[in-house]
Amino acid sequence: MRRPIIAGNWKMQKTVRESVDFARQLMIAYAAESPDRRVIVAPPFTSIYAVAEVLMGSGIHLAAQNLHDKQAGAFTGEISAAMLVDAGCEYVIVGHSERRTLFGERDDVINRKLRAAISFDLRPIFCIGETLEEREAGRTFTVVERQIKEGLNNFAADDIKPIVIAYEPVWAIGTGRTATAEQAQEVHAYIRTVMGRAYGDTLAGLLNVIYGGSVNPGNIGGLMAQPDIDGALVGGASLDVESFVRIIQY
Ligand code: PGA
Repeated sequence: MRRPIIAGNWKMQKTVRESVDFARQLMIAYAAESPDRRVIVAPPFTSIYAVAEVLMGSGIHLAAQNLHDKQAGAFTGEISAAMLVDAGCEYVIVGHSERRTLFGERDDVINRKLRAAISFDLRPIFCIGETLEEREAGRTFTVVERQIKEGLNNFAADDIKPIVIAYEPVWAIGTGRTATAEQAQEVHAYIRTVMGRAYGDTLAGLLNVIYGGSVNPGNIGGLMAQPDIDGALVGGASLDVESFVRIIQY
């Protein structure tokens, strides 16, 4: 049984005070003990520790939005997996399309980051997805398969277990244009097939494959009704407590 995951990615938004207020309100609005789903928030780096203190013992989990692949050293401006664990993170988003397109992260960099996260017991939320151009050229499956194979290059079955895959079609992120539930399901099923071929159907059947791209309280129900959609990575609609809670309680 795959337990649904609802994760909020705040991106470069919210001060420390705003983040703490959000976390407090979220705990009041949502009884996190609910065993049937896992709720995660991904604040900006500056807010992680403060939010971790608020959420301690609440059952709501913390993610970072990025990490560096090296453990420590002269890498000005970067944050390591060990630092994220120390600050209270259990998860880290890796390979978000904004990192890929705006910051030039290629599949080999993403592969190293995934490896670094796993080595420190940080569970990666590994993002993949095609651009509009790629979809229109009929290359969705090819692109997604390449991102999986290169991102997970040299990963054994044990390395895969903690990974959450987030399918985020780039054309649906922040655009208000969601993939239909059927379009998303088609790709999610394909992702599970690719993972099954590489690591066996049992393991693929246990993997959480979540959807991201303009998820909101109105479309979450239809997405979650699909057999291979195991949750959501939510950007814009996760910034407001009321809307995020409505998504959690789809
Ligand atoms: P969005 O962002 O929900 O604002 O489209 C999703 C994401 O970037 O993870």
